[in-house]
Amino acid sequence: MKTPVRVAVTGAAGQIGYALLFRIASGEMLGKDQPVILQLLELPIDKAQAALKGVMMELEDCAFPLLAGMVGTDDPEVAFKDADVALLVGARPRGPGMERKDLLLENAKIFTAQGAALNKVASRNVKVLVVGNPANTNAYIAMKSAPDLPARNFTAMLRLDHNRALSQLANQANVAVGDIENLIVWGNHSPTMYPDYRFATAKGKSLKDAINDADWNANTFIPQVGKRGAAIIEARGLSSAASAANAAIDHVRDWLLGSNGKWVTMGVPSDGSYGIPEGVIYGVPVITANGEYTRVEGLAVDDFSRAAMDKTLAELEEERAGVAHLLG
Ligand code: NAI
Repeated sequence: MKTPVRVAVTGAAGQIGYALLFRIASGEMLGKDQPVILQLLELPIDKAQAALKGVMMELEDCAFPLLAGMVGTDDPEVAFKDADVALLVGARPRGPGMERKDLLLENAKIFTAQGAALNKVASRNVKVLVVGNPANTNAYIAMKSAPDLPARNFTAMLRLDHNRALSQLANQANVAVGDIENLIVWGNHSPTMYPDYRFATAKGKSLKDAINDADWNANTFIPQVGKRGAAIIEARGLSSAASAANAAIDHVRDWLLGSNGKWVTMGVPSDGSYGIPEGVIYGVPVITANGEYTRVEGLAVDDFSRAAMDKTLAELEEERAGVAHLLG
């Protein structure tokens, strides 16, 4: 039997947590032969801790053969102890009348503390995925707060946007979603993101050539992917949860087990390529293998793409400036 992998999940009693934990414990994220230990963090308030206890009881009741242990806690240093994978899902939601700036700062406090706790107690090669919004900037803050851990191990979730774009593209081009390759979502996980299908193919055929409609790209595809989260809230009365959990599983599974040559989108600290300043956590195309991601390099950037990539970068720079004073 393989050594269990320790997976920390924050916000474990929330909506996404509820859609995520059972799939991790059943082996969908790390493989059907890989035991896991779940280390679950919730807020130190009675209601959250009681809800977490309930989720853990249900996990127990599933009798998952791969679930080798469970810890529930309100202490980040307990949750992150020796963690191999950390899914940072819990975040402060935007309250009534709350300014975007205040939201950013409230979350900055959470992710500074969690980055420091990871730095202190997690595995030295912990792989971190930030889901809680604003995901890119929260990942940046956690990365900056964990100077002893590899910066490249801090990532933000753009995979839901990537998956949303795949489905929209499949519908438009009338191809099977599983046949699509080489799609990208550049930038911030926010409506400014840029889904870029210029290189996308299905069974080797260019989808840009097949669709050949600049108006659809600019006025339907890009805004529809960008505003999909709002459309889900409008329809469901609640934000995306199962699809977000699914994307988190896709992100970590591909990172650890490999994407088999496929491009996937991950929010990762920039290396300066594509005109994105170093360190900014920005959605880029990567190929993953052996627990590492490699950027797809050298893609052409046309004028339309440059403008779209700069717009989402400007938003990230603004967020970064808003928290700079907290990071020293
Ligand atoms: P939720 O409100 O149902 O659950 C969040 C949970 O986190 C709550 O149980 C709360 O008690 C807990 N929590 C809050 N602060 C915490 C902290 N400091 N430490 C530990 N736990 C904490 O929210 P939901 O629907 O599960 O969403 C979670 C986050 O994911 C939100 O920020 C949401 O905006 C974001 N999200 C990101 C997506 C992406 O594509 N990157 C997609 C969908 C949601």
